[in-house]
Amino acid sequence: MLAMKPGHSIDTRMGGQHTAFIHPARGDLIMRILIYSARPHDDHFLTARFRQSGHEVTSRAESLCPDTADMASGAEVVCSFVNDQLDATVLGKLRQLGVRLILQRAAGIDNIDLATAHQLGFTVAHAPAYSPWAVAEHATALLLALNRHIPTAWQQVQRGNYLLDGLLGFDLHDKTALIVGLGRIGHCFARIMQGFGCHVLAYDPMLPVDQRLPGIEFGELADLWPRADVVSLHAPLLPATRHMVDARLLATSRPGMLLINTGRGALVDTRALIDSLSAGRPGGYAADVYENEKPLFFHDCSDHPHQDPLLDELLRLPNVLMTPHQAFFTREALEGIASAMEQALTAWQAGKPAPGILHA
Ligand code: NAI
Repeated sequence: MLAMKPGHSIDTRMGGQHTAFIHPARGDLIMRILIYSARPHDDHFLTARFRQSGHEVTSRAESLCPDTADMASGAEVVCSFVNDQLDATVLGKLRQLGVRLILQRAAGIDNIDLATAHQLGFTVAHAPAYSPWAVAEHATALLLALNRHIPTAWQQVQRGNYLLDGLLGFDLHDKTALIVGLGRIGHCFARIMQGFGCHVLAYDPMLPVDQRLPGIEFGELADLWPRADVVSLHAPLLPATRHMVDARLLATSRPGMLLINTGRGALVDTRALIDSLSAGRPGGYAADVYENEKPLFFHDCSDHPHQDPLLDELLRLPNVLMTPHQAFFTREALEGIASAMEQALTAWQAGKPAPGILHA
């Protein structure tokens, strides 16, 4: 339970099951915020910012799930991250405890049952537009590392092996890059690929025509996929996009094509991908996300590494590279996320709109 600070007076303007407290000097409302899945960088960027604004913050390393929902007792605001579980069960518990605002410190919101959240009267906000460059640049790093075999080369050099055998890559210049999902991050990745001198194709059935970048060819996924030397996934995870990269689509890959996924793991059918990679179509896969990453990513599992046979099988393939959901992890992005969270909180308190507040 979070305690009231001396000198703060009680305010009933916010309604609900909790009394809210007014900052003695500024007169605005102090919120009690619980941050789930908190890591040291969250304390540095997020907790510090909330505290500077006078809010009472508790951060917990535990992720949000039915067993940990009770930790939110006494908080009006819960701050969640991508692998926290905000399904009907958890949302029901949070509502009973008096939580009213959910701040998701990420762009993706596929871990939140939004319909139930709105039905239960929660306000849900996310960080829609923090540094898309962070993710696009990481996708580029993955592409270059995969294409030029950088991890293998580095391991070989460390062992004193300076041979080039097995390290052959290809020029990106004059190649064709397909971007699936041409939103904020997809646009940045398109610009980077154009800078490399690639022909850029895009599949985005939801993008209004007036938001299309010049010099990009749009079309249907099944038509564009076989033409690509590089495919990068930047669509959100939705029922319509789950396993959009399936066995049928993968079979049409150009031999040697490199598939990059910084979007969400479940955009790709991992079982089908493993079979296709073994057959050389695509030629390689570099990802920052994995469809069953929830119990593993953001934890140190080095004491018991082999918990997921499907992931083990994927990682054993020589043409696979993976990072642990770190594409967003730059100073600029963390500043941007913290600022978006604070902006959403302040707007919510004032009953005003903010770019990150999601509507039913
Ligand atoms: P955005 O909302 O700006 O762009 C998403 C684009 O996907 C939109 O243009 C939308 O029209 C398009 N889209 C929707 N349905 C589609 C479909 N069926 N097929 C193809 N395109 C479709 O989102 P933003 O900021 O570009 O982020 C994209 C995704 O990247 C997020 O949803 C999140 O899952 C992921 N992400 C990953 C991070 C990481 O650290 N690995 C960090 C941030 C985001």
